[in-house]
Amino acid sequence: MTVAIVRSTTAGLAAAALLGLGLSAPAAAQDAAAPAAQTQAAAKPRIVIIGTGGTIAGAGASSVNTGDYDSAKVAVDKIIAAVPEIKQVADVKGEQIFQIGSESFNDERLLKLAKRVSELAKQPDVDAVMITHGTDTIEETAYFLNLTLKTEKPVVVIGAMRPGTALSADGPLNLYNAAVVAASPEAKGKGVLVVMNDEIHSARDVTKSNALKVETFESLYGPLGVVVESKPYFYRLPARPHTTATEFDIDGIDSLPKVDVFYAHVSMDPKALGALAGLGGKALIYAGTGNGSVADYMEAPLTEVRKSALVVRATRTGSGMVVRNGEERDDEQDWVTAADQSPQKARLLTSLALTKTSDPKVLQEMFWKY
Ligand code: DGL
Repeated sequence: MTVAIVRSTTAGLAAAALLGLGLSAPAAAQDAAAPAAQTQAAAKPRIVIIGTGGTIAGAGASSVNTGDYDSAKVAVDKIIAAVPEIKQVADVKGEQIFQIGSESFNDERLLKLAKRVSELAKQPDVDAVMITHGTDTIEETAYFLNLTLKTEKPVVVIGAMRPGTALSADGPLNLYNAAVVAASPEAKGKGVLVVMNDEIHSARDVTKSNALKVETFESLYGPLGVVVESKPYFYRLPARPHTTATEFDIDGIDSLPKVDVFYAHVSMDPKALGALAGLGGKALIYAGTGNGSVADYMEAPLTEVRKSALVVRATRTGSGMVVRNGEERDDEQDWVTAADQSPQKARLLTSLALTKTSDPKVLQEMFWKY
């Protein structure tokens, strides 16, 4: 129990826990605490770590609480201080922008975060940016940044599935691995990355696939690489345009066009679709069954929605390409299909597209392109 209490404090976490057991600190922790003169070598990359909350900033009542805890409790500076090993790979500085569970992100917060990352990335004294984030919507924030940031500098988003107070907390190693990636020249120009559970994912493809497991993050086409023993190994490149190669820019944008998602299921109420569309959204993502299928009794309500908003067919299955004009009449109905994008990512792409166009054909091309 002594170890659990020591672990639940923050600064010097790993070394302190070992010292509490009467063991000597590992070489890594000793190095981190060594005087600068001994460790001084080449200048290390300068990384700003922006804290937004989530489980990585969470705390439970006891060390065996892995799923029952409060997220967004610990300040980013304390999270960083708990991983002294990070000093071996980079000079890091924390900055707290929010302290929230990521389910509470909204468009305003996305824009605020993106603008701050964009500012930091323009600074000559910042080499990379990391963002600590709740895992629930990490994929949406990362994808939004991937489409909008105009930088080649590494931007790495990370979280944790277990709070720092838990036995076998994953946050400290995720943070360290993310710093290893953000500090590496190989991470430049690869778009926004999500580093979790020793894997490096492209923001475009990554999704949370399980509510509790540490190995919850999966990419549609596999991760870009892995982190092993303090070294990133990239094996793939993102094929789709991102960051500097997109047409989207948030400079001068203070709000995003409203886009909503309707989730299909057996025995839907068409009035619910009408009520959602009546809220003034400029587009509606229909998260259909299977291949984005539209129930026969939802066709007329969707045709009605199209009179005031764009309609995008996506799939609720979690993966796979929505085929145009298969079982549905997309051309006739003037509907767009989301290609392989999840409903939540289709929402973001559609919203950004609406800052440029309201033409469904142009939006369709963007789905093929991005
Ligand atoms: N409330 C969730 C969030 O902030 C906690 C989940 C997590 O961070 O893993 O997204």
